[in-house]
Amino acid sequence: MDIGAYDGPFTFELERRGAQVTALDIQDPDITVFNAVKKIKNSAALYVRGGVYDALPETLGIFDLVLFAGVYYHLKNPVLSLQRIRKLLKDGGELFIEGASATDHLAEHLNNGLGLPKSSLRMTAEIRDRLPISYFDAEHRIYHHWSNWWFPTTRCLEAIMVDSGFRNVDLELKKNAFYNYSHRRLMGRAEADPAKPDPSDQKHEHMVATKDDVTPTKDLASYPPNQHR
Ligand SMILES: C[S@@+](CC[C@H](N)C(=O)[O-])C[C@H]1O[C@@H](n2cnc3c(N)ncnc32)[C@H](O)[C@@H]1O
Repeated sequence: MDIGAYDGPFTFELERRGAQVTALDIQDPDITVFNAVKKIKNSAALYVRGGVYDALPETLGIFDLVLFAGVYYHLKNPVLSLQRIRKLLKDGGELFIEGASATDHLAEHLNNGLGLPKSSLRMTAEIRDRLPISYFDAEHRIYHHWSNWWFPTTRCLEAIMVDSGFRNVDLELKKNAFYNYSHRRLMGRAEADPAKPDPSDQKHEHMVATKDDVTPTKDLASYPPNQHR
């Protein structure tokens, strides 16, 4: 499955390499050139017009591989998107992911703010990149376009992926062809963790009290029991 397929360059390349491909995107494929190229190539790829938040295995099926290139930072809820993708993959299935990062922007900001020399920029970036933080770019300072929202560090995207049901996450921050080598971007792969088949289940987000584990108490300050608030 190619999520955020747009005109379909990767859909058709995956098909050329032998895959049966479903492309998913919110765009009308007659307005992008997806349908025109599909016709020219006599492609059997299936296009589903829809958003990743609504992508469910009950309607789309289960996939061996998902490509999620150039999309997560366009979303206001990237964690939800990765939870959805986990459920679209078979256990052990592969996710290939690519997208923007906040690391270099944050490093420059910090260096300038503290008046640090340019020579320390690389080290500042490396330290930043190991913190699980994401930059919500409501002012659109990184890519100067209103459709870009969350920019994680490498450590942050890795943590989100592990929490969303992936294992053996391997990410790299580097310039790449997806974005014409202009910015360092995150790219890598991961496997759907068989031990975490349903990361979106509410019980993984907040405890839900049951009769058995709530001890009656006069003082709400001790609620929830034995949990951090
Ligand atoms: C920067 S383009 C990436 C296109 C292609 N994957 C690539 O790497 O060249 C982002 C794509 O994500 C799609 N997109 C944005 N929000 C989406 C959503 N909620 N669900 C599915 N696709 C979405 C956009 O319509 C667009 O086609």
